[in-house]
Amino acid sequence: MSESIVIAVDGPAASGKSTLAKRLAAALGLAFLDTGLLYRAVARRLLERGCDPSDERAALEAVAALKPEELDPDVLAGERIGEAASKVAAIAAVREALLPWQRRFGRTPPGAVLAGRDIGTVVFPDATVKLFVTASIEERARRRFRELQRRGRRPMFESVLDELRERDRRDSERPIAPLRAAPDAVVLDTTALDADAAFAAARRLIEPVLRERAQGARSPETSCNP
Ligand code: C5P
Repeated sequence: MSESIVIAVDGPAASGKSTLAKRLAAALGLAFLDTGLLYRAVARRLLERGCDPSDERAALEAVAALKPEELDPDVLAGERIGEAASKVAAIAAVREALLPWQRRFGRTPPGAVLAGRDIGTVVFPDATVKLFVTASIEERARRRFRELQRRGRRPMFESVLDELRERDRRDSERPIAPLRAAPDAVVLDTTALDADAAFAAARRLIEPVLRERAQGARSPETSCNP
């Protein structure tokens, strides 16, 4: 692992992980990457060209053509793109092609907070801290429903719930980089927490680790004192 701090924030759709990760990054002075946007941007390109999101060749072409300015959460929101993204994300070659980019981003000093599904398990198995953020499916559906309304959409609650269920299934059952908590991740269940309480809980988990790390980095000077 480089000197950079990497905080992995994984979890299912609409668990609040991206909002939390973004706030953590701002508080800790680190960069922020919502890796779901990478898969969404590839999916959007495919949908716009009338391609099947499971078409490996077309998906790899879309990855190669991807530009950072395409990672716009407002443009990429919505369950149609989310669902297509989860099909794109099941293609091993696409995941492989997106790995170096994510790793470069995280390793650039002083480091980053990355939100996704496989940050703690695959992208940064040696991350400084790993959080797995989750919430009940009903609560996640309520959050996604409200988010879509805020963005001016008119969703139906039952459809949002069904789509999340289907996406959870696809993300957890795929053979490559399935959605799951890394064995050394701390699970943060935010079902009963609002965004502020989730942020406070995450800081309580992360800050001792960062303090210990900073002390460890200083200890060579202080420990050599026979
Ligand atoms: O997090 P978000 O809902 O934007 O992600 C869209 C889809 O991208 C997810 O359903 C998942 O299939 C995929 N994804 C992934 N690995 C990541 C981030 C997202 O497989 N690190």
